[in-house]
Amino acid sequence: MPDIKIISASVRKGRRSHGVAKFFKTFLEEKNLASAEIIDLHNYAFPLFDERLRFQESPSEAMLDFAGKINKSDGIIIVTPEYNGGYPASLKNAIDLLYDEWYHKPVAIATVSDGIFGGTQVIMSLQFVLWKMKAWVVNARFPVTRVQESFDENGIPADKTATDKRAGSFIDELLWCIEAKRRMEK
Ligand SMILES: Cc1cc2nc3c(=O)[nH]c(=O)nc-3n(C[C@H](O)[C@H](O)[C@H](O)COP(=O)(O)O)c2cc1C
Repeated sequence: MPDIKIISASVRKGRRSHGVAKFFKTFLEEKNLASAEIIDLHNYAFPLFDERLRFQESPSEAMLDFAGKINKSDGIIIVTPEYNGGYPASLKNAIDLLYDEWYHKPVAIATVSDGIFGGTQVIMSLQFVLWKMKAWVVNARFPVTRVQESFDENGIPADKTATDKRAGSFIDELLWCIEAKRRMEK
């Protein structure tokens, strides 16, 4: 069974996108699609980036733990809010710590906002950053509109049937890439 990590990017007080990360964990586990774990950037509380992990003399336990989890995972879901047309600094702060760990890593991006566009303006900039890092950005989208109405804080969707259907197509693409990579590396 693939190991999928879900990066929850918002570190904001009263954040709503964390519920979406919880939804994906439950979805993957309930449908027996993957083992799933949330990487909560709020808990990691990384200091402002000052050097890449591989050049640090004494990296923190938290950074080593983060790197190990990304490295070992078969695929990643990033759940990110949109802040002023971009993704939060907490996410770039964490992405830049690593390099080799992102190599050929299938990454699916779920975007979140409290408005009607579902954070979709984030996609191009985040996709480009991940492409630069040689990650494999999966060709699927999961925009969450009006997050305050569409998910509760425990990740229960207001419309489970429709949300599960959308999540199914999104996750299928990620699983396809994970399987394709596994076959290439056999
Ligand atoms: C600094 C900041 C900037 C925001 N900019 C946008 C934006 O450009 N577009 C948008 O649709 N929502 C924007 N929002 C609203 C967020 O989509 C909303 O707060 C959402 O809940 C953010 O996710 P979070 O609660 O997990 O942090 C912004 C929110 C903040 C805090």
